[in-house]
Amino acid sequence: MTKKNIVHVVGTGTIGEPLIGLFTDFKEKWGIDEVTFHKRTPKADDRAMVEHLINHGGRLVVDEDARDEFTRLGHRVSFTTEQALERATVIVDCTPAGNDNKAKHYDRCTGPKGFLAQGSEFGFGKPYARGINEEVQSPDERFVQIVSCNTHNISVLLKTIAIRDGKINLAAGRFVCMRRANDVSDNKGFVAAPEAGKHDDPEFGTHHARDAYHLFQTVGEKLNLFSSAIKINTQYMHTLWFDLDLRHDTTLEEVKSLLRSNPRVACTNKRSVNQIFSFGRDHGYFGRILNQTVMPMSTVTVPNPRKVVGFCYTPQDGNSLLSSIAATLRFLDASKLEANLDVLRPYIFREI
Ligand SMILES: NC(=O)c1ccc[n+]([C@@H]2O[C@H](COP(=O)([O-])OP(=O)(O)OC[C@H]3O[C@@H](n4cnc5c(N)ncnc54)[C@H](OP(=O)(O)O)[C@@H]3O)[C@@H](O)[C@H]2O)c1
Repeated sequence: MTKKNIVHVVGTGTIGEPLIGLFTDFKEKWGIDEVTFHKRTPKADDRAMVEHLINHGGRLVVDEDARDEFTRLGHRVSFTTEQALERATVIVDCTPAGNDNKAKHYDRCTGPKGFLAQGSEFGFGKPYARGINEEVQSPDERFVQIVSCNTHNISVLLKTIAIRDGKINLAAGRFVCMRRANDVSDNKGFVAAPEAGKHDDPEFGTHHARDAYHLFQTVGEKLNLFSSAIKINTQYMHTLWFDLDLRHDTTLEEVKSLLRSNPRVACTNKRSVNQIFSFGRDHGYFGRILNQTVMPMSTVTVPNPRKVVGFCYTPQDGNSLLSSIAATLRFLDASKLEANLDVLRPYIFREI
């Protein structure tokens, strides 16, 4: 008997919830037999969300000691955590505890072909961002870390603007990540005024440049990168300021043409985050734009032939979702990856 393809998502937060929706929506197209999802905390506030996911074909997984409480809330529990982990073909961890879960569970699981964790989980596995280091990804490596949304953004800028003869031709790249204070779905964590971040990493400033460095290191590039971060009181997208010193001459026309020709970059005449976010809400997949970055073209400048400066926006959480799906589909059937991703192309915009 052939083994079922089962995708198991751990966590139902900003990243987990839309991923469960995507996997259940495109299940037939992607050859997925079953989607299971783990929710940790039984909460009346989350009942509608959990029921919606179950009614769309997801099967609920909970810890043994929380089972009765979930049942009391009226949910149909399908599996316990241990059962679901052994049944799964691919496990997509969408919690801030991917490394802990790896040590506690995943390292011992023999059933699954692959495990993914998200941006905060440095060291979980080989870093990955769709279109950045595709060539070194292989279903033989079971642990993959999907880098954070801002790391996706930094990386696509480098791979688009600083590229020359197939290599990143960069003297130095500096970035300021102006982070939304919290997600649109969050009640906690909002800030009343901008709050500057510490430079925790002595070499790279913050984890954003460090993670981009490690991502490019997988393809043999060692880049000089530095990032700073500040939280600002918005819920709409992150804003990234970039300053790239190239090792070759360029022009503003050339930079704009490179940006326009990369399908992972959504170019726009808009400068207002509200308008861009609103476009995503109206035309995206449940509001998500799946590009790596949105580039307000009028902000890009070339103050001297070897320097490119500008602003861009990190599209909600869409870039991490796309990479999570691509990594999962590679574990399921690497030969069908590109064809299977076709259904998501309508949400990857050339222009906004
Ligand atoms: N938010 C973004 O835009 C974004 C973008 C890119 C990457 N990421 C990355 O995605 C990951 C998740 O972030 P998020 O924003 O989706 O978080 P979130 O909205 O706070 O959701 C976290 C989820 O993880 C569950 N959880 C937390 N600790 C757990 C544990 N020890 N075991 C099992 N479940 C646990 C929570 O379950 P309960 O609520 O049921 O307790 C919740 O469903 C992080 O690595 C983050 O860096 C986030």
